Amino acid sequence: MRAFDPSQVPPPVTDFRWQELPTDRSIDLEIGAGQGLHPIAYARANPERQLIALEKTHTRFAKLEGRRNAHPDLTNLWIAQADATAFVTHLIPDQTLAKVFILYPNPYPKHKQANLRWHNRPFLATLLKKMRPDAELTLATNMPWYADEAVATLTHQWGLHLTLRHQITGSPRTHFERKYLARGETCWNITFSFVE
Ligand SMILES: C[S@@+](CC[C@H](N)C(=O)[O-])C[C@H]1O[C@@H](n2cnc3c(N)ncnc32)[C@H](O)[C@@H]1O
Repeated sequence: MRAFDPSQVPPPVTDFRWQELPTDRSIDLEIGAGQGLHPIAYARANPERQLIALEKTHTRFAKLEGRRNAHPDLTNLWIAQADATAFVTHLIPDQTLAKVFILYPNPYPKHKQANLRWHNRPFLATLLKKMRPDAELTLATNMPWYADEAVATLTHQWGLHLTLRHQITGSPRTHFERKYLARGETCWNITFSFVE
């Protein structure tokens, strides 16, 4: 795998300032937040934590923003339309993130796209560097082969420990999860840590 070179990634255009986040809250990050079902529910359920939710596309971010604006009382959710690679590289200090969520990432199923899956990207080294030693990474997918590959790569290549792999039951947390469960598909939630 080629090395990730942060100097090749242009800084994102945003008014986000890490220094302005509350210092008494654990900081969590959601990459690819989509239309925002999970960020809103998570921020509401965890008032003592701070979530940064990033979504790259304009269309999905507009829906996330609309949803967020309907909850002006939520002071612990920061949303941004941004490419997570640039945002994390330039704006997140090392060893600060307590939890990272990547829920239903694009699986890039074609063989020639394999290097675009998050666990196969050189950028993952940077993301892991931004996480606290006691941090947790949560991945969700409806693709069994993707789950197997992510677990193998994240444990063997990146040295993470698999802490949980379970089937989702109950209320869907995201729009994609809702779609997959409605189709009768199995959704997996997989968590990793740095320590056993
Ligand atoms: C399959 S969708 C899942 C959305 C949401 N997590 C859900 O489960 O409903 C994947 C999302 O990740 C976003 N995404 C992909 N690459 C990204 C990146 N580099 N930075 C931020 N968002 C990204 C896509 O725009 C898309 O909205």
